[in-house]
Amino acid sequence: MNLIFLGAPGSGKGTQAVRLAEQIDVLHLSTGDLLRAAVKQGTDLGRKAEKFMKAGELVPDDILIDLIEEKQNAGDLNSGFILDGFPRTIPQAEALDAMFERAGTGIDKAVLLDVDDEEIIKRLSGRMYCSECQAGYNYPANMPKVEGVCDRCGGKLVRRPDDEPEVVKNRLDVYKKQTQPIEDYYRKQSVLLPIPGVGTPDDIFDRIRKGLDVA
Ligand code: AP5
Ligand code: MG
Repeated sequence: MNLIFLGAPGSGKGTQAVRLAEQIDVLHLSTGDLLRAAVKQGTDLGRKAEKFMKAGELVPDDILIDLIEEKQNAGDLNSGFILDGFPRTIPQAEALDAMFERAGTGIDKAVLLDVDDEEIIKRLSGRMYCSECQAGYNYPANMPKVEGVCDRCGGKLVRRPDDEPEVVKNRLDVYKKQTQPIEDYYRKQSVLLPIPGVGTPDDIFDRIRKGLDVA
Protein backbone atom coordinates (compact mmCIF):
# COMPACT_ATOMS: atom_id res chain seq x y z
CA MET A 1 0.00 0.00 0.00
CA ASN A 2 1.29 3.48 -0.92
CA LEU A 3 0.02 6.14 1.48
CA ILE A 4 0.52 9.81 2.25
CA PHE A 5 -0.26 11.26 5.68
CA LEU A 6 -1.44 14.87 5.60
CA GLY A 7 -2.38 17.19 8.43
CA ALA A 8 -1.34 20.27 10.33
CA PRO A 9 1.69 20.25 12.64
CA GLY A 10 0.82 18.20 15.72
CA SER A 11 -2.21 16.55 14.10
CA GLY A 12 -0.78 13.09 14.93
CA LYS A 13 0.81 12.11 11.62
CA GLY A 14 3.89 10.60 13.27
CA THR A 15 1.95 8.85 16.06
CA GLN A 16 -0.44 7.17 13.63
CA ALA A 17 1.93 6.57 10.71
CA VAL A 18 4.51 4.70 12.81
CA ARG A 19 1.80 2.40 14.15
CA LEU A 20 0.12 1.78 10.81
CA ALA A 21 3.43 1.15 9.01
CA GLU A 22 4.24 -1.54 11.55
CA GLN A 23 0.80 -3.12 11.23
CA ILE A 24 0.74 -3.25 7.41
CA ASP A 25 4.51 -3.79 7.12
CA VAL A 26 5.50 -0.85 4.93
CA LEU A 27 8.23 1.80 5.22
CA HIS A 28 7.46 4.87 7.35
CA LEU A 29 9.28 7.83 5.87
CA SER A 30 9.04 11.14 7.77
CA THR A 31 10.79 14.03 6.02
CA GLY A 32 10.82 15.95 9.34
CA ASP A 33 12.67 13.06 11.04
CA LEU A 34 15.15 12.83 8.14
CA LEU A 35 15.82 16.57 8.29
CA ARG A 36 16.21 16.59 12.10
CA ALA A 37 18.72 13.72 11.85
CA ALA A 38 20.65 15.67 9.19
CA VAL A 39 20.71 18.78 11.41
CA LYS A 40 21.97 16.70 14.34
CA GLN A 41 24.72 15.13 12.23
CA GLY A 42 25.68 18.52 10.75
CA THR A 43 25.48 17.28 7.13
CA ASP A 44 25.17 19.59 4.12
CA LEU A 45 21.42 18.91 4.04
CA GLY A 46 21.15 19.69 7.76
CA ARG A 47 23.03 22.98 7.38
CA LYS A 48 20.75 24.03 4.53
CA ALA A 49 17.53 23.03 6.36
CA GLU A 50 18.20 24.21 9.92
CA LYS A 51 17.33 27.90 9.63
CA PHE A 52 14.01 27.17 7.91
CA MET A 53 13.01 24.53 10.47
CA LYS A 54 13.89 26.73 13.45
CA ALA A 55 11.64 29.47 12.07
CA GLY A 56 8.78 27.07 11.28
CA GLU A 57 9.17 27.74 7.55
CA LEU A 58 9.22 25.09 4.83
CA VAL A 59 12.59 23.93 3.53
CA PRO A 60 12.81 24.81 -0.23
CA ASP A 61 11.00 22.41 -2.59
CA ASP A 62 14.06 21.41 -4.65
CA ILE A 63 15.85 20.10 -1.53
CA LEU A 64 12.87 17.96 -0.47
CA ILE A 65 12.14 16.70 -3.97
CA ASP A 66 15.79 15.61 -4.38
CA LEU A 67 15.59 13.84 -1.01
CA ILE A 68 12.50 11.82 -1.98
CA GLU A 69 13.88 11.05 -5.45
CA GLU A 70 17.02 9.66 -3.82
CA LYS A 71 14.85 7.29 -1.74
CA GLN A 72 12.90 6.25 -4.84
CA ASN A 73 16.09 5.67 -6.88
CA ALA A 74 17.53 3.56 -4.06
CA GLY A 75 14.44 1.31 -4.28
CA ASP A 76 13.29 2.25 -0.74
CA LEU A 77 9.71 2.91 -1.90
CA ASN A 78 9.29 -0.32 -3.86
CA SER A 79 7.47 -2.37 -1.21
CA GLY A 80 4.86 0.08 0.04
CA PHE A 81 5.29 3.21 2.15
CA ILE A 82 3.73 5.89 4.30
CA LEU A 83 5.07 9.34 3.47
CA ASP A 84 4.69 11.50 6.60
CA GLY A 85 5.21 15.22 5.96
CA PHE A 86 5.75 14.99 2.19
CA PRO A 87 4.39 16.44 -0.05
CA ARG A 88 3.76 19.79 1.60
CA THR A 89 3.30 22.07 -1.41
CA ILE A 90 1.68 21.77 -4.85
CA PRO A 91 5.11 21.64 -6.62
CA GLN A 92 6.11 18.76 -4.28
CA ALA A 93 2.84 16.90 -5.01
CA GLU A 94 3.32 17.39 -8.76
CA ALA A 95 6.94 16.20 -8.58
CA LEU A 96 5.82 13.10 -6.67
CA ASP A 97 3.15 12.33 -9.29
CA ALA A 98 5.69 12.75 -12.10
CA MET A 99 8.15 10.49 -10.28
CA PHE A 100 5.51 7.78 -9.75
CA GLU A 101 4.28 8.07 -13.33
CA ARG A 102 7.83 7.34 -14.55
CA ALA A 103 7.95 4.35 -12.20
CA GLY A 104 4.47 3.10 -13.20
CA THR A 105 3.11 3.35 -9.67
CA GLY A 106 0.98 5.79 -7.63
CA ILE A 107 -0.70 6.82 -4.39
CA ASP A 108 -3.54 4.66 -3.02
CA LYS A 109 -4.78 7.12 -0.38
CA ALA A 110 -3.87 10.46 1.16
CA VAL A 111 -4.99 10.24 4.80
CA LEU A 112 -5.85 13.69 6.19
CA LEU A 113 -5.89 14.04 9.99
CA ASP A 114 -8.28 16.81 10.88
CA VAL A 115 -7.56 18.60 14.20
CA ASP A 116 -8.42 22.16 15.27
CA ASP A 117 -5.78 24.78 16.17
CA GLU A 118 -6.64 24.88 19.88
CA GLU A 119 -5.99 21.14 20.29
CA ILE A 120 -2.78 21.39 18.24
CA ILE A 121 -1.39 24.19 20.41
CA LYS A 122 -2.20 22.12 23.52
CA ARG A 123 -0.46 19.03 22.10
CA LEU A 124 2.68 20.79 20.90
CA SER A 125 3.14 22.85 24.06
CA GLY A 126 3.15 19.58 26.05
CA ARG A 127 5.43 17.56 23.77
CA MET A 128 8.85 16.45 25.05
CA TYR A 129 11.21 13.76 23.81
CA CYS A 130 14.32 11.99 25.06
CA SER A 131 17.57 13.45 23.72
CA GLU A 132 19.14 9.97 23.89
CA CYS A 133 16.57 7.35 22.76
CA GLN A 134 13.95 9.72 21.18
CA ALA A 135 11.06 8.27 23.29
CA GLY A 136 8.10 10.67 23.19
CA TYR A 137 6.23 12.18 26.17
CA ASN A 138 3.35 14.58 26.43
CA TYR A 139 2.44 16.69 29.47
CA PRO A 140 0.13 16.10 31.27
CA ALA A 141 -1.30 12.96 29.57
CA ASN A 142 1.94 10.97 29.32
CA MET A 143 4.48 12.30 31.83
CA PRO A 144 7.76 10.67 32.84
CA LYS A 145 8.00 9.25 36.39
CA VAL A 146 10.80 11.72 37.23
CA GLU A 147 10.45 15.27 35.91
CA GLY A 148 12.69 15.84 32.85
CA VAL A 149 14.14 12.31 32.83
CA CYS A 150 13.35 9.52 30.34
CA ASP A 151 11.67 6.46 31.95
CA ARG A 152 13.23 4.16 29.38
CA CYS A 153 16.92 5.15 29.39
CA GLY A 154 17.41 7.94 31.95
CA GLY A 155 18.23 10.46 29.18
CA LYS A 156 17.39 14.16 29.40
CA LEU A 157 13.98 15.23 28.05
CA VAL A 158 14.01 18.18 25.66
CA ARG A 159 11.56 20.08 23.43
CA ARG A 160 11.74 20.40 19.69
CA PRO A 161 13.02 23.95 18.96
CA ASP A 162 10.05 24.44 16.61
CA ASP A 163 7.54 23.69 19.41
CA GLU A 164 8.13 27.12 20.98
CA PRO A 165 4.76 28.97 20.92
CA GLU A 166 5.78 31.67 18.39
CA VAL A 167 7.15 29.06 16.00
CA VAL A 168 4.04 26.86 16.36
CA LYS A 169 1.92 29.87 15.37
CA ASN A 170 4.02 30.32 12.24
CA ARG A 171 3.93 26.58 11.41
CA LEU A 172 0.11 26.71 11.54
CA ASP A 173 0.05 29.77 9.24
CA VAL A 174 2.49 28.12 6.84
CA TYR A 175 0.33 24.97 6.82
CA LYS A 176 -2.78 26.96 5.90
CA LYS A 177 -1.09 28.99 3.17
CA GLN A 178 1.29 26.50 1.59
CA THR A 179 0.16 22.97 2.46
CA GLN A 180 -3.63 23.05 2.72
CA PRO A 181 -4.04 23.52 -1.08
CA ILE A 182 -2.77 19.96 -1.56
CA GLU A 183 -5.88 18.66 0.23
CA ASP A 184 -7.86 19.79 -2.83
CA TYR A 185 -5.20 18.40 -5.15
CA TYR A 186 -5.76 14.89 -3.73
CA ARG A 187 -9.53 15.37 -3.39
CA LYS A 188 -9.65 15.98 -7.16
CA GLN A 189 -7.71 12.72 -7.67
CA SER A 190 -10.36 10.96 -5.49
CA VAL A 191 -7.74 9.60 -3.08
CA LEU A 192 -8.31 11.94 -0.10
CA LEU A 193 -9.40 10.15 3.09
CA PRO A 194 -10.32 12.71 5.78
CA ILE A 195 -10.20 11.31 9.33
CA PRO A 196 -11.34 13.20 12.46
CA GLY A 197 -8.05 13.44 14.39
CA VAL A 198 -9.44 14.13 17.88
CA GLY A 199 -9.99 11.47 20.55
CA THR A 200 -7.61 8.86 21.89
CA PRO A 201 -4.79 7.62 19.62
CA ASP A 202 -6.51 4.19 19.67
CA ASP A 203 -9.83 5.64 18.47
CA ILE A 204 -8.09 7.50 15.66
CA PHE A 205 -6.11 4.43 14.65
CA ASP A 206 -9.38 2.44 14.40
CA ARG A 207 -10.90 5.15 12.19
CA ILE A 208 -7.86 5.04 9.88
CA ARG A 209 -7.93 1.23 9.66
CA LYS A 210 -11.65 1.28 8.86
CA GLY A 211 -11.18 4.01 6.25
CA LEU A 212 -8.40 2.03 4.56
CA ASP A 213 -10.13 -1.32 5.02
CA VAL A 214 -7.13 -2.74 6.89
CA ALA A 215 -7.77 -5.65 9.28
P1 AP5 B 1 7.60 17.63 10.67
O1 AP5 B 1 8.54 16.93 11.53
O2 AP5 B 1 6.89 16.90 9.59
O3 AP5 B 1 6.60 18.39 11.62
P2 AP5 B 1 5.04 18.77 11.51
O4 AP5 B 1 4.33 18.45 10.27
O5 AP5 B 1 5.01 20.21 11.88
O6 AP5 B 1 4.34 17.86 12.50
P3 AP5 B 1 4.79 17.22 13.87
O7 AP5 B 1 5.82 16.20 13.61
O8 AP5 B 1 5.09 18.31 14.85
O9 AP5 B 1 3.40 16.60 14.32
P4 AP5 B 1 2.71 15.25 13.88
O10 AP5 B 1 1.55 15.56 12.98
O11 AP5 B 1 3.70 14.23 13.41
O12 AP5 B 1 2.10 14.83 15.27
P5 AP5 B 1 2.67 13.85 16.40
O13 AP5 B 1 2.23 12.48 16.11
O14 AP5 B 1 4.12 14.12 16.64
O15 AP5 B 1 8.36 18.87 9.98
C1 AP5 B 1 9.20 19.71 10.72
C2 AP5 B 1 9.80 20.76 9.80
O16 AP5 B 1 10.61 20.15 8.81
C3 AP5 B 1 8.82 21.62 9.00
O17 AP5 B 1 8.34 22.71 9.76
C4 AP5 B 1 9.71 22.07 7.84
O18 AP5 B 1 10.59 23.09 8.24
C5 AP5 B 1 10.53 20.82 7.56
N1 AP5 B 1 9.90 19.93 6.57
C6 AP5 B 1 9.51 18.64 6.76
N2 AP5 B 1 8.97 18.12 5.65
C7 AP5 B 1 9.03 19.11 4.72
C8 AP5 B 1 8.60 19.20 3.37
N3 AP5 B 1 8.00 18.16 2.74
N4 AP5 B 1 8.78 20.37 2.72
C9 AP5 B 1 9.39 21.42 3.31
N5 AP5 B 1 9.82 21.40 4.60
C10 AP5 B 1 9.62 20.26 5.29
O19 AP5 B 1 1.82 14.37 17.65
C11 AP5 B 1 2.10 15.62 18.24
C12 AP5 B 1 1.99 15.50 19.77
O20 AP5 B 1 0.63 15.19 20.10
C13 AP5 B 1 2.83 14.34 20.36
O21 AP5 B 1 3.35 14.74 21.61
C14 AP5 B 1 1.83 13.19 20.52
O22 AP5 B 1 2.18 12.34 21.57
C15 AP5 B 1 0.55 13.95 20.81
N6 AP5 B 1 -0.64 13.25 20.30
C16 AP5 B 1 -0.74 12.52 19.17
N7 AP5 B 1 -1.99 12.03 18.99
C17 AP5 B 1 -2.70 12.50 20.06
C18 AP5 B 1 -4.07 12.34 20.46
N8 AP5 B 1 -4.93 11.62 19.73
N9 AP5 B 1 -4.47 12.96 21.59
C19 AP5 B 1 -3.59 13.70 22.35
N10 AP5 B 1 -2.28 13.87 22.02
C20 AP5 B 1 -1.85 13.28 20.89
MG1 MG C 1 5.75 14.28 12.94
